[in-house]
Amino acid sequence: MQQIQDILYTQGFGTRRVCTGLVQQGYVSVHGQIVTDAGAAFDPQGLVFHVQGQPWAYHEKAYLMLHKPAGMECSHKPSAWPSVYTLLPAPLRQRPNKGAVVGVQAIGRLDQDTTGLLLLSDDGAFIHRMSSPRHHVPKVYEVTLQDPLQAAQVARLLAGVVLNDDPRPVRAAACEARDGHHLSLTLTEGKYHQVKRMIAAVGNQVQALHRSRMGALVLPGDLAAGQWRWLRAEEVAALRG
Ligand code: URA
Repeated sequence: MQQIQDILYTQGFGTRRVCTGLVQQGYVSVHGQIVTDAGAAFDPQGLVFHVQGQPWAYHEKAYLMLHKPAGMECSHKPSAWPSVYTLLPAPLRQRPNKGAVVGVQAIGRLDQDTTGLLLLSDDGAFIHRMSSPRHHVPKVYEVTLQDPLQAAQVARLLAGVVLNDDPRPVRAAACEARDGHHLSLTLTEGKYHQVKRMIAAVGNQVQALHRSRMGALVLPGDLAAGQWRWLRAEEVAALRG
């Protein structure tokens, strides 16, 4: 059991003082009843409460997927384009961690012009697990090419190409031509601009880039660009592997 003021705080509804105030001023309801006693205790697991009429489902840790649209940066402090974090409701951006307001973090950034599957979480161990190069989580990218694809380019991507920041070659774990200008590329590392640099290294150019999959998780066809949803427990378990 946990006090409602603490439940609100853990879910990102503001400072402890703000959360106490929200309850005392009658903005919070649980099981259809307004709760004004900030110390009233509830079992948080599976709890759906309302704040100012808006439902919120309690999640001990946040695991989300976002369909990133083009023209947005995966940064809390974007330099030129709006931040993907503006697509999320405020509580997800304000979840506390060890007393500090940190909110959820993107797991591996996508470029401003890249679309597709972006995972976000506030679970440090999970973020590390998913982004650590040691764990080789496969990421699948759908690449639209500027120039016609050549068989030799596929062969070189699979064999390995050298990028300018590391003498060790990086190779695609899989590379399937879809048609003359499209290929599906699977990478297990996450170097800066890796797809664009690998494609450039084999003499072509990326015209459009879309991430369709991370590990066991495929971007669902019914999640439109700009939309997000909670991951289901079994999806998180499958990603943990
Ligand atoms: N590789 C890139 O070049 N850009 C991305 O956004 C992701 C992978």
